[in-house]
Amino acid sequence: MRIGVLTGGGDCPGLNAVIRAVVRKGVATYGHDFIGFRDGWRGPLEGLTKPLGIAEVRGILPRGGTILGSSRTNPFKISGGVEQIKTNLAEQGVDALVAIGGEDTLGVATKLHELGVQVVGVPKTIDNDLSATDYTFGFDTAVNIAMEAIDRLHTTAESHHRTLVVEVMGRHAGWIALHAGLAGGANVILLPERQFDVDQVAGYVEKRFQHQYAPIVVVAEGAQPLDGQMVLHNQELDAFGHVRLGGIGQWLAQQLEAKTGKEARTVVLGHIQRGGTPTAFDRVLATRLGLQAIDAVNEGDWGKMVAMQGTDIVRVPLAEATRELKTVPLERYTEAEVFFGS
Ligand code: F6P
Repeated sequence: MRIGVLTGGGDCPGLNAVIRAVVRKGVATYGHDFIGFRDGWRGPLEGLTKPLGIAEVRGILPRGGTILGSSRTNPFKISGGVEQIKTNLAEQGVDALVAIGGEDTLGVATKLHELGVQVVGVPKTIDNDLSATDYTFGFDTAVNIAMEAIDRLHTTAESHHRTLVVEVMGRHAGWIALHAGLAGGANVILLPERQFDVDQVAGYVEKRFQHQYAPIVVVAEGAQPLDGQMVLHNQELDAFGHVRLGGIGQWLAQQLEAKTGKEARTVVLGHIQRGGTPTAFDRVLATRLGLQAIDAVNEGDWGKMVAMQGTDIVRVPLAEATRELKTVPLERYTEAEVFFGS
Protein backbone atom coordinates (compact mmCIF):
# COMPACT_ATOMS: atom_id res chain seq x y z
CA MET A 1 0.00 0.00 0.00
CA ARG A 2 0.94 3.62 -0.41
CA ILE A 3 0.06 5.44 2.79
CA GLY A 4 -0.21 9.18 3.36
CA VAL A 5 0.62 10.60 6.79
CA LEU A 6 -0.41 14.03 8.09
CA THR A 7 -0.34 15.97 11.36
CA GLY A 8 -3.02 18.61 12.02
CA GLY A 9 -3.94 21.14 14.69
CA GLY A 10 -1.61 22.58 17.32
CA ASP A 11 1.84 21.00 17.33
CA CYS A 12 2.56 18.66 20.20
CA PRO A 13 5.63 16.87 21.59
CA GLY A 14 5.55 13.26 20.36
CA LEU A 15 4.18 13.83 16.84
CA ASN A 16 7.52 12.87 15.30
CA ALA A 17 7.68 9.74 17.45
CA VAL A 18 4.36 8.60 15.95
CA ILE A 19 5.48 9.32 12.39
CA ARG A 20 8.70 7.39 13.01
CA ALA A 21 6.91 4.34 14.44
CA VAL A 22 4.35 4.26 11.62
CA VAL A 23 7.01 4.46 8.92
CA ARG A 24 9.56 2.16 10.57
CA LYS A 25 7.09 -0.67 11.13
CA GLY A 26 5.21 0.02 7.91
CA VAL A 27 8.33 -0.34 5.79
CA ALA A 28 10.24 -2.99 7.74
CA THR A 29 7.40 -5.32 8.73
CA TYR A 30 4.80 -4.77 6.01
CA GLY A 31 6.73 -3.36 3.05
CA HIS A 32 4.42 -0.37 2.58
CA ASP A 33 5.34 2.93 0.92
CA PHE A 34 4.77 6.33 2.52
CA ILE A 35 4.21 9.90 1.48
CA GLY A 36 4.08 12.85 3.87
CA PHE A 37 1.32 15.45 3.48
CA ARG A 38 2.38 18.88 4.66
CA ASP A 39 0.53 21.13 7.07
CA GLY A 40 -2.43 19.04 8.18
CA TRP A 41 -5.43 18.81 5.87
CA ARG A 42 -3.95 21.56 3.70
CA GLY A 43 -1.55 18.90 2.36
CA PRO A 44 -4.08 16.56 0.75
CA LEU A 45 -6.28 19.55 -0.12
CA GLU A 46 -3.58 21.38 -2.09
CA GLY A 47 -1.44 18.38 -3.01
CA LEU A 48 1.47 19.48 -0.80
CA THR A 49 3.68 16.47 -0.18
CA LYS A 50 7.15 15.49 0.96
CA PRO A 51 9.05 12.20 0.81
CA LEU A 52 8.62 10.01 3.85
CA GLY A 53 10.81 6.94 4.21
CA ILE A 54 13.19 5.40 6.71
CA ALA A 55 15.86 8.03 5.96
CA GLU A 56 13.44 10.89 6.66
CA VAL A 57 12.44 9.53 10.07
CA ARG A 58 15.95 8.84 11.36
CA GLY A 59 16.82 10.90 14.42
CA ILE A 60 13.38 12.48 14.89
CA LEU A 61 12.27 10.58 18.03
CA PRO A 62 13.36 13.28 20.52
CA ARG A 63 12.42 16.22 18.32
CA GLY A 64 9.45 18.43 19.21
CA GLY A 65 7.02 19.85 16.64
CA THR A 66 6.33 17.88 13.49
CA ILE A 67 8.54 17.25 10.48
CA LEU A 68 5.38 17.37 8.34
CA GLY A 69 4.21 20.79 9.51
CA SER A 70 0.71 21.50 10.74
CA SER A 71 -2.28 23.80 10.24
CA ARG A 72 -5.85 24.20 11.38
CA THR A 73 -7.21 23.89 7.81
CA ASN A 74 -10.77 22.55 7.67
CA PRO A 75 -11.52 21.08 4.21
CA PHE A 76 -15.24 21.02 5.03
CA LYS A 77 -15.16 24.83 5.19
CA ILE A 78 -13.76 25.06 1.67
CA SER A 79 -16.08 24.67 -1.28
CA GLY A 80 -15.23 21.47 -3.17
CA GLY A 81 -12.62 20.65 -0.51
CA VAL A 82 -13.54 17.00 -0.05
CA GLU A 83 -13.61 16.27 -3.80
CA GLN A 84 -10.24 17.98 -4.12
CA ILE A 85 -8.79 15.75 -1.42
CA LYS A 86 -10.14 12.61 -3.11
CA THR A 87 -8.69 13.72 -6.46
CA ASN A 88 -5.29 14.50 -4.96
CA LEU A 89 -5.13 11.18 -3.10
CA ALA A 90 -5.94 9.33 -6.33
CA GLU A 91 -3.36 11.33 -8.29
CA GLN A 92 -0.66 10.53 -5.71
CA GLY A 93 -1.68 6.86 -5.73
CA VAL A 94 -2.47 7.03 -2.01
CA ASP A 95 -4.53 4.08 -0.74
CA ALA A 96 -4.91 5.13 2.88
CA LEU A 97 -4.25 7.95 5.33
CA VAL A 98 -2.89 8.06 8.86
CA ALA A 99 -4.22 11.29 10.36
CA ILE A 100 -2.54 12.40 13.59
CA GLY A 101 -4.46 15.11 15.41
CA GLY A 102 -6.90 16.25 18.03
CA GLU A 103 -10.65 16.75 18.07
CA ASP A 104 -10.71 18.87 14.90
CA THR A 105 -8.30 16.87 12.73
CA LEU A 106 -9.94 13.61 13.76
CA GLY A 107 -13.40 15.14 13.24
CA VAL A 108 -12.42 15.71 9.60
CA ALA A 109 -11.01 12.15 9.44
CA THR A 110 -14.34 10.81 10.75
CA LYS A 111 -16.34 12.59 8.06
CA LEU A 112 -13.91 11.61 5.30
CA HIS A 113 -14.13 7.99 6.42
CA GLU A 114 -17.93 8.21 6.13
CA LEU A 115 -17.38 9.52 2.59
CA GLY A 116 -15.27 6.53 1.64
CA VAL A 117 -11.69 7.62 2.41
CA GLN A 118 -9.61 4.85 4.02
CA VAL A 119 -8.27 6.46 7.16
CA VAL A 120 -6.94 5.57 10.61
CA GLY A 121 -6.57 8.23 13.32
CA VAL A 122 -3.98 8.80 16.03
CA PRO A 123 -4.99 11.12 18.91
CA LYS A 124 -2.73 13.98 19.95
CA THR A 125 -3.22 17.01 22.11
CA ILE A 126 -1.48 18.53 25.08
CA ASP A 127 -5.00 19.25 26.43
CA ASN A 128 -5.72 15.52 27.11
CA ASP A 129 -9.38 16.17 26.34
CA LEU A 130 -10.27 13.32 23.97
CA SER A 131 -12.87 11.05 25.51
CA ALA A 132 -11.90 7.66 24.08
CA THR A 133 -8.30 7.64 25.30
CA ASP A 134 -7.05 7.81 28.89
CA TYR A 135 -4.03 9.87 27.86
CA THR A 136 -2.87 11.72 24.79
CA PHE A 137 0.86 12.17 24.17
CA GLY A 138 2.05 15.73 24.65
CA PHE A 139 0.08 16.11 27.87
CA ASP A 140 2.80 14.68 30.10
CA THR A 141 5.41 16.94 28.50
CA ALA A 142 3.19 20.02 28.87
CA VAL A 143 2.52 19.21 32.53
CA ASN A 144 6.22 18.72 33.25
CA ILE A 145 7.11 22.02 31.59
CA ALA A 146 4.43 23.83 33.60
CA MET A 147 5.51 22.07 36.81
CA GLU A 148 9.11 23.13 36.32
CA ALA A 149 7.99 26.70 35.70
CA ILE A 150 5.94 26.66 38.92
CA ASP A 151 8.92 25.25 40.87
CA ARG A 152 11.03 28.13 39.63
CA LEU A 153 8.34 30.73 40.30
CA HIS A 154 8.07 29.67 43.95
CA THR A 155 11.49 31.17 44.64
CA THR A 156 10.58 34.59 43.21
CA ALA A 157 7.18 34.57 44.91
CA GLU A 158 8.90 33.88 48.27
CA SER A 159 11.72 36.34 47.82
CA HIS A 160 9.46 39.22 46.79
CA HIS A 161 6.34 38.35 48.81
CA ARG A 162 4.31 38.39 45.64
CA THR A 163 1.37 36.45 44.33
CA LEU A 164 2.33 34.75 41.09
CA VAL A 165 -0.46 33.77 38.75
CA VAL A 166 0.51 31.11 36.20
CA GLU A 167 -1.79 30.83 33.18
CA VAL A 168 -1.63 27.46 31.44
CA MET A 169 -3.20 26.08 28.26
CA GLY A 170 -5.80 23.35 27.92
CA ARG A 171 -8.64 25.11 26.12
CA HIS A 172 -11.96 24.05 27.74
CA ALA A 173 -10.44 21.26 29.83
CA GLY A 174 -8.50 21.81 33.04
CA TRP A 175 -6.21 18.77 32.91
CA ILE A 176 -2.96 20.68 32.45
CA ALA A 177 -3.86 23.14 35.21
CA LEU A 178 -4.93 20.39 37.60
CA HIS A 179 -1.88 18.17 37.11
CA ALA A 180 0.68 20.97 36.92
CA GLY A 181 -0.90 22.68 39.94
CA LEU A 182 -0.88 19.51 42.01
CA ALA A 183 2.65 18.57 40.96
CA GLY A 184 3.93 22.09 41.55
CA GLY A 185 2.24 22.65 44.90
CA ALA A 186 0.03 25.52 43.77
CA ASN A 187 -1.90 27.43 46.40
CA VAL A 188 -5.04 27.55 44.26
CA ILE A 189 -5.96 25.87 40.95
CA LEU A 190 -8.70 27.30 38.75
CA LEU A 191 -10.28 25.24 35.98
CA PRO A 192 -12.76 25.86 33.15
CA GLU A 193 -14.97 23.14 34.60
CA ARG A 194 -15.87 25.21 37.64
CA GLN A 195 -16.41 28.96 37.76
CA PHE A 196 -14.44 30.62 40.54
CA ASP A 197 -15.27 33.31 43.06
CA VAL A 198 -12.50 35.88 42.92
CA ASP A 199 -13.11 36.89 46.58
CA GLN A 200 -12.60 33.30 47.67
CA VAL A 201 -9.36 33.13 45.67
CA ALA A 202 -8.22 36.39 47.33
CA GLY A 203 -9.01 34.75 50.69
CA TYR A 204 -6.79 31.75 49.87
CA VAL A 205 -4.01 34.10 48.81
CA GLU A 206 -4.22 36.12 52.04
CA LYS A 207 -4.19 32.98 54.13
CA ARG A 208 -1.06 31.79 52.41
CA PHE A 209 0.69 35.10 53.13
CA GLN A 210 -0.29 34.70 56.81
CA HIS A 211 1.74 31.46 56.77
CA GLN A 212 4.73 33.53 55.59
CA TYR A 213 4.65 31.63 52.35
CA ALA A 214 3.87 33.28 48.99
CA PRO A 215 1.05 31.91 46.84
CA ILE A 216 1.19 30.49 43.33
CA VAL A 217 -2.19 30.53 41.59
CA VAL A 218 -2.51 28.23 38.58
CA VAL A 219 -5.29 29.29 36.23
CA ALA A 220 -6.37 27.44 33.11
CA GLU A 221 -6.75 29.71 30.08
CA GLY A 222 -10.42 28.69 29.86
CA ALA A 223 -11.28 29.34 33.54
CA GLN A 224 -14.04 31.84 34.21
CA PRO A 225 -14.99 34.01 37.15
CA LEU A 226 -18.46 33.51 38.63
CA ASP A 227 -20.37 36.34 37.06
CA GLY A 228 -18.10 37.43 34.25
CA GLN A 229 -17.70 36.59 30.62
CA MET A 230 -14.69 34.52 29.62
CA VAL A 231 -11.73 36.89 29.28
CA LEU A 232 -10.44 36.71 25.72
CA HIS A 233 -7.62 38.36 23.81
CA ASN A 234 -9.92 38.63 20.83
CA GLN A 235 -13.13 37.23 19.48
CA GLU A 236 -11.68 35.72 16.30
CA LEU A 237 -12.68 32.17 15.46
CA ASP A 238 -10.48 29.63 13.70
CA ALA A 239 -11.65 27.34 10.86
CA PHE A 240 -13.13 24.98 13.44
CA GLY A 241 -15.01 27.74 15.27
CA HIS A 242 -12.72 27.98 18.33
CA VAL A 243 -12.07 31.31 20.01
CA ARG A 244 -8.51 32.14 20.96
CA LEU A 245 -8.28 31.90 24.73
CA GLY A 246 -5.96 33.82 27.03
CA GLY A 247 -5.98 36.87 29.25
CA ILE A 248 -7.60 35.46 32.37
CA GLY A 249 -4.24 35.38 34.22
CA GLN A 250 -3.64 39.09 33.71
CA TRP A 251 -7.17 39.96 34.79
CA LEU A 252 -6.91 37.76 37.88
CA ALA A 253 -3.58 39.21 39.01
CA GLN A 254 -5.04 42.73 38.85
CA GLN A 255 -8.04 41.63 40.90
CA LEU A 256 -5.88 39.86 43.49
CA GLU A 257 -3.53 42.82 43.86
CA ALA A 258 -6.46 45.18 44.40
CA LYS A 259 -8.18 42.87 46.88
CA THR A 260 -5.13 41.78 48.94
CA GLY A 261 -2.86 44.83 48.67
CA LYS A 262 0.03 42.49 47.78
CA GLU A 263 1.84 42.76 44.48
CA ALA A 264 0.62 40.16 41.97
CA ARG A 265 2.25 39.23 38.66
CA THR A 266 1.24 36.95 35.83
CA VAL A 267 3.26 34.43 33.85
CA VAL A 268 1.58 33.11 30.70
CA LEU A 269 3.32 29.88 29.73
CA GLY A 270 1.69 29.77 26.29
CA HIS A 271 3.36 27.78 23.55
CA ILE A 272 6.37 26.93 25.74
CA GLN A 273 4.12 24.10 26.96
CA ARG A 274 3.97 22.62 23.46
CA GLY A 275 7.61 23.13 22.56
CA GLY A 276 10.72 21.03 22.66
CA THR A 277 11.51 17.44 23.35
CA PRO A 278 8.85 14.98 24.60
CA THR A 279 9.16 13.22 27.95
CA ALA A 280 9.92 9.48 28.04
CA PHE A 281 6.24 8.79 28.80
CA ASP A 282 5.11 10.69 25.71
CA ARG A 283 7.75 9.09 23.48
CA VAL A 284 6.68 5.62 24.54
CA LEU A 285 2.96 6.39 24.24
CA ALA A 286 3.40 8.03 20.82
CA THR A 287 5.50 5.11 19.61
CA ARG A 288 2.98 2.51 20.79
CA LEU A 289 0.09 4.42 19.18
CA GLY A 290 2.04 4.65 15.92
CA LEU A 291 2.75 0.90 15.91
CA GLN A 292 -0.93 0.11 16.51
CA ALA A 293 -2.00 2.59 13.81
CA ILE A 294 0.09 0.91 11.14
CA ASP A 295 -1.22 -2.50 12.24
CA ALA A 296 -4.78 -1.14 11.78
CA VAL A 297 -3.91 0.19 8.33
CA ASN A 298 -2.31 -3.10 7.35
CA GLU A 299 -5.46 -4.96 8.40
CA GLY A 300 -7.73 -2.47 6.59
CA ASP A 301 -9.43 -1.58 9.87
CA TRP A 302 -10.64 1.81 8.55
CA GLY A 303 -12.43 4.49 10.53
CA LYS A 304 -10.64 3.61 13.75
CA MET A 305 -8.63 5.66 16.18
CA VAL A 306 -5.93 4.07 18.27
CA ALA A 307 -6.24 4.83 21.98
CA MET A 308 -4.73 4.16 25.38
CA GLN A 309 -7.10 2.45 27.80
CA GLY A 310 -5.45 1.51 31.05
CA THR A 311 -2.02 0.41 29.87
CA ASP A 312 -3.31 -1.16 26.64
CA ILE A 313 -3.33 0.34 23.18
CA VAL A 314 -6.71 -0.41 21.62
CA ARG A 315 -8.79 0.67 18.61
CA VAL A 316 -12.06 2.59 18.88
CA PRO A 317 -14.35 3.98 16.18
CA LEU A 318 -13.19 7.45 15.11
CA ALA A 319 -16.71 8.78 15.63
CA GLU A 320 -16.60 7.72 19.29
CA ALA A 321 -13.27 9.42 19.80
CA THR A 322 -14.58 12.86 18.94
CA ARG A 323 -18.09 12.58 20.33
CA GLU A 324 -17.50 14.38 23.61
CA LEU A 325 -14.87 16.44 25.34
CA LYS A 326 -13.15 14.76 28.29
CA THR A 327 -13.21 17.36 31.04
CA VAL A 328 -12.04 17.14 34.66
CA PRO A 329 -14.69 15.46 36.84
CA LEU A 330 -15.75 17.40 39.91
CA GLU A 331 -14.38 14.77 42.31
CA ARG A 332 -10.89 15.17 40.85
CA TYR A 333 -11.09 18.90 41.51
CA THR A 334 -12.40 18.38 45.04
CA GLU A 335 -9.42 16.11 45.73
CA ALA A 336 -7.07 19.03 45.00
CA GLU A 337 -9.03 21.58 47.06
CA VAL A 338 -7.57 20.31 50.33
CA PHE A 339 -4.37 22.20 49.47
CA PHE A 340 -6.02 25.52 48.61
CA GLY A 341 -5.00 28.41 50.83
CA SER A 342 -3.05 26.21 53.21
O1 F6P B 1 -5.14 22.40 21.66
C1 F6P B 1 -3.85 22.73 22.03
C2 F6P B 1 -3.73 24.19 22.37
O2 F6P B 1 -2.40 24.45 22.73
C3 F6P B 1 -4.69 24.69 23.44
O3 F6P B 1 -4.28 24.36 24.74
C4 F6P B 1 -4.72 26.16 23.14
O4 F6P B 1 -5.91 26.79 23.57
C5 F6P B 1 -4.62 26.20 21.64
O5 F6P B 1 -4.03 24.98 21.24
C6 F6P B 1 -3.80 27.35 21.12
O6 F6P B 1 -3.83 27.30 19.74
P1 F6P B 1 -2.89 28.18 18.81
O7 F6P B 1 -1.50 27.66 18.92
O8 F6P B 1 -3.44 27.97 17.43
O9 F6P B 1 -3.01 29.58 19.29
